Amino acid sequence: MKPDFGVPGQRVLVTAGAGGIGKAIATTFADAGARVHICDVDQTALASFSKERPDISASIADVSDVAQVDALFETVKRQLGGLDVLVNNAGIAGPTGRIEDIAIADWERCIAVDLNGLYYCTRLAMPMIKAAGGGSIINLSSAAGRLGFPLRSPYAAAKWAVVGLTASLAIEAGQDGVRVNCIQPGFVHTEATGNSFSPALADDLVARSALRRSGQPHDVASLAVHLAKPESSWITGQVIAVDGGMTVQPMADLSEISRRLYGADAVDDALGRPGAGTAAS
Ligand SMILES: NC(=O)c1ccc[n+]([C@@H]2O[C@H](COP(=O)([O-])OP(=O)(O)OC[C@H]3O[C@@H](n4cnc5c(N)ncnc54)[C@H](O)[C@@H]3O)[C@@H](O)[C@H]2O)c1
Repeated sequence: MKPDFGVPGQRVLVTAGAGGIGKAIATTFADAGARVHICDVDQTALASFSKERPDISASIADVSDVAQVDALFETVKRQLGGLDVLVNNAGIAGPTGRIEDIAIADWERCIAVDLNGLYYCTRLAMPMIKAAGGGSIINLSSAAGRLGFPLRSPYAAAKWAVVGLTASLAIEAGQDGVRVNCIQPGFVHTEATGNSFSPALADDLVARSALRRSGQPHDVASLAVHLAKPESSWITGQVIAVDGGMTVQPMADLSEISRRLYGADAVDDALGRPGAGTAAS
């Protein structure tokens, strides 16, 4: 196994790094001395990211497109000369609705980004990380990969699948010094969540968390960087929640969040639970 010098000098790829949690992960790695490349599907976000952080190389790629991922890894080879760490961060919320109402194209798009994208990136990253003498793969799942999320089944299905992929790859690649771990964020304030989560829902989630504060992208980023450090060299195959203690509170599923997001009546009606027509959102 190669000598472990810590984060400085590590070559890191972060998918969907131009915004949200991915941006925090990329910049935290770079600030710790890593050489970082990001990809993103959003050209405008990439341009403003590059202006802000010219020290981090960036290129366009939709992780759900095999050809674009192939081109991304050619760029990574040119820019970084190899790879020590892959952060599979890209993920979309997917459609909302009962399984029988979800359009096939919407289901497929969610699985394509949230699951297939991890596969396309990991299959190319793995030989590079092995050739580097070992390293780390960090996958972003979600609280929805730990609990059921009614009316958000494609997202939950993909995020639970990420857990199985993490465990399997950890066993497969451990002998080559490649560690594979998974982070499950709770509600984290980003532009995207800010637009879709009402202040009332955000307050409710804070009240439900043991630590009584909302999550910020840097809360997730600091764990991602820690998982790539020598201090974590005996940690693999693990699924770690970064959620302020939300999922250790008594909560059977995320249906209360669905009720707040999509309307209590609609959700209670969809789930056949008492209260439809009477509950306040
Ligand atoms: N924010 C949260 O509360 C939260 C909670 C649990 C899990 N997560 C997971 O964390 C990860 C990051 O979430 P976020 O909230 O920062 O995301 P976000 O919605 O803020 O998006 C971040 C970036 O992803 C890019 N992106 C979207 N689709 C892409 C694709 N197909 N290929 C490449 N880039 C793409 C966007 O352009 C954007 O710049 C996701 O996997 C998400 O499921 C987030």
